Amino acid sequence: MTTIGIDGLRFYVPAYALDLADLARARGVPEGKFLHGLGQRTMAVAPPDQDVISMGASAAEQALIGVDRDRIGMVVLSTEDGVDMSKAGAMYLHRLLELPASCQAYEVKQACTAGTVALQQALFYVSANPDRLALVVMADEARYAFHSPAEATQGAGACALVISARPRIAEITPVFGVYTEEVADFWRPVYREEALVDGHFSIEMYMRALAGSWADYAFLRGGVKIEDFARFCCHLPFARIADKARARLLKVAGVTPDKGRHLGADDCASYGREIGNTYTASLYVALASLLETGQEDLAGREVGMYSYGSGCMGMFFALRVMPGYTAALAAKENAKMLQQRQRISVAQYEEWRGQRLPEDGRTVRLDHFGSARFRLCGCAGHRRCYERSKTKITPAVLPVMNHTS
Ligand code: COA
Repeated sequence: MTTIGIDGLRFYVPAYALDLADLARARGVPEGKFLHGLGQRTMAVAPPDQDVISMGASAAEQALIGVDRDRIGMVVLSTEDGVDMSKAGAMYLHRLLELPASCQAYEVKQACTAGTVALQQALFYVSANPDRLALVVMADEARYAFHSPAEATQGAGACALVISARPRIAEITPVFGVYTEEVADFWRPVYREEALVDGHFSIEMYMRALAGSWADYAFLRGGVKIEDFARFCCHLPFARIADKARARLLKVAGVTPDKGRHLGADDCASYGREIGNTYTASLYVALASLLETGQEDLAGREVGMYSYGSGCMGMFFALRVMPGYTAALAAKENAKMLQQRQRISVAQYEEWRGQRLPEDGRTVRLDHFGSARFRLCGCAGHRRCYERSKTKITPAVLPVMNHTS
């Protein structure tokens, strides 16, 4: 049987971060609630010239180092922040990443589970086309209202996976346990910039879907047994949910907390604690965190994966870590990317959040914020335009840009 799985795994976060102790002070909340109650330290903030396309392209560019792009047969973007109701954001990625014309490009949506749905489709694609590769890009900006209880659980970033029939990082068995139930725990109507969330209900649904998808995975689809997992990795809207999710999994699987202690929670949350929620990318940033910051050699071991998307759908699956996986990761580069971020004030974060591209077709050129590999450089005639480093990438008929603020 062909081994299919993750051959490349890279993530990208914007170069700016807000310290949650600063946010706590500004909002009159004890900082212990954000730092210990939610387990978060800082949250990544996207400047005005970064969006899901530019962040996704930056993550993918890194994941594609050393990859023959002509072999990529599909690029899928999963996001909750689509920039167009019709055109897939993956079209922009296709162009920015210079992918071949024979590569299909589209977008998928189901809140934070969309990344896993895209991964599942990529596995099927590579299974049918073992000589080709699939690129899965997950990117989001988690945005809630100022002063709301969810504000401290925001974040921004992207993750990219290269799926191959010769994976260097992890093999994925295409067995997925699923739990679906229509509920209103978190949603964002098309006319709103910020999500609406019934926070405690969303946690209740997260746990119910964990129990339901685990039951489907373990009892109906014959998945890996709980005692065979070396680690458990889960969707992380905030770091402390990892402990709670592990405890719930052990309970529904009938394992005592002592016997399940090795499943861990901390190493999968190390990056998320500094980045915040990245919605569709969150589970895969957690996987990078587990594989790059964990002390134990996981080669040949099984990792249980739980993906949750509000609305709601839970998916449970497993991956087996490949021998020599660390050589295909980028632990040092990622540590540097997180360390080198610039700390911004609450006032700066609030000002950036207020900035919008015009909706009347005017031409706008955005200033540079940092030196990201890709950026949103403005818009003209209702079209967004992106550039890669110094090379401008614009629609073919883009008018000359006026410099406006
Ligand atoms: N020091 C330490 N811990 C403190 C504290 C303090 N001063 N004050 C509160 N806490 C703890 C609480 O005990 C609680 O921990 P617990 O759940 O282990 O008991 C935690 O901090 C959060 O406090 P809580 O009162 O529940 O916060 P909240 O109701 O204001 O909001 C969320 C918390 C998660 C509901 C909110 O941030 C939210 O809506 N987030 C977005 C939705 C989300 O992430 N959903 C998850 C599923 S996708």
